[in-house]
Amino acid sequence: MIRVLFVCLGNICRSPMAEAIFRQMVKKNKLQDKIFVDSAGTGHWHIGEKPHKGTREILDAYHIDYHGIYARQIDKKDLFQFDYIIGMDTNNVEDLRRMAGAAQTGYIARLLDFVPETDQSDVPDPYFTGNFTEVYELVSEGCERLLQFIRQREGI
Ligand code: 4NP
Repeated sequence: MIRVLFVCLGNICRSPMAEAIFRQMVKKNKLQDKIFVDSAGTGHWHIGEKPHKGTREILDAYHIDYHGIYARQIDKKDLFQFDYIIGMDTNNVEDLRRMAGAAQTGYIARLLDFVPETDQSDVPDPYFTGNFTEVYELVSEGCERLLQFIRQREGI
């Protein structure tokens, strides 16, 4: 099983959205027996909560299932148990690298690193901007490209 973890700050807005979108893409491509998807936050504030109302509303609008997704905080062992650890912004990736120290981990990157033609490298935080539509568009594009990247790299 190839294991993919999406990471943001609170694990209620961006990374659960990415988890739900990516899981649906994996299913559509009949790869659910090969790719496992999860998400986590670097912060602890929302542990146990379901996704933010803005995330739920946009996922509902696109008929994307998010049942069973509840916020959790990343644990250092996630860095070794997941093959791809995908941060939503530069701060997330810096936090992940700091947590890893010199240890060898799964492949750490920002989601928008997989969309090189965009002028944005960070998925903006809708907890502060309120713009869940923009986030949906960026996350969807990033997830499409990430899946292509993983398929190519893993030969699946
Ligand atoms: P997320 O958004 O990282 O996309 O889940 C946030 C949610 C909550 C907080 C910050 C960002 N917070 O500070 O509580």
